[in-house]
Amino acid sequence: MTPPNPSFTPTRTIVLTGMMGAGKTCIGRKLAERLDLPFVDADAQIAEAAGCSISEIFERHGEEAFRDGERRVITRLLSEGVHVLAVGGGAFMDPETRALILEKALSVWLRADIELLLSRVLRRDTRPLLKTGDPREILERLIEERYPVYAEANVIIDSLDAPPEVTVEKTHEALAAFMKDNPQESQKQQSRKAS
Ligand code: S3P
Repeated sequence: MTPPNPSFTPTRTIVLTGMMGAGKTCIGRKLAERLDLPFVDADAQIAEAAGCSISEIFERHGEEAFRDGERRVITRLLSEGVHVLAVGGGAFMDPETRALILEKALSVWLRADIELLLSRVLRRDTRPLLKTGDPREILERLIEERYPVYAEANVIIDSLDAPPEVTVEKTHEALAAFMKDNPQESQKQQSRKAS
């Protein structure tokens, strides 16, 4: 693989995907700082637009309505300026949202194993999908369904139980290497910039 370009400056939004508890918000925030870009959390935007929490959206309107709102918010965010965007764990599973992310953004899958995810998600009870049964069983099922699809992301980074700076560094390097190794992506980037 080509060594990373240290002067990598993204001209497309970087989308972080992965399961609940993978560290998308924490890593996204730090990556944005490092790249001197704004950080946006799609779930926070959805909650703001709805005027209530994600759990309340699920309770009052159901998952389908949440996914519609999620698609709308991500579509809007991807038409705005370059930033680092953390999306909820289900966003990349929606075929329309995924196609849009793959077309317009640079995507990163933060991959983590079940024990790490479980240890993190059990610290908070803000995830409606985990309230419907045993969190381990639910996560195992979602991992089976989602990991083959998350694998379509441009870059895959193992989210380890290490200081976030380690994962941020790896993500930065992997994105730079991806852009170097995929000149057709740079081409896309330039034509979008010029248009
Ligand atoms: C979901 C993940 C959550 C949130 C919603 C649904 C999912 O976001 O969007 O609870 O389907 O995995 P995080 O991945 O940021 O926890």
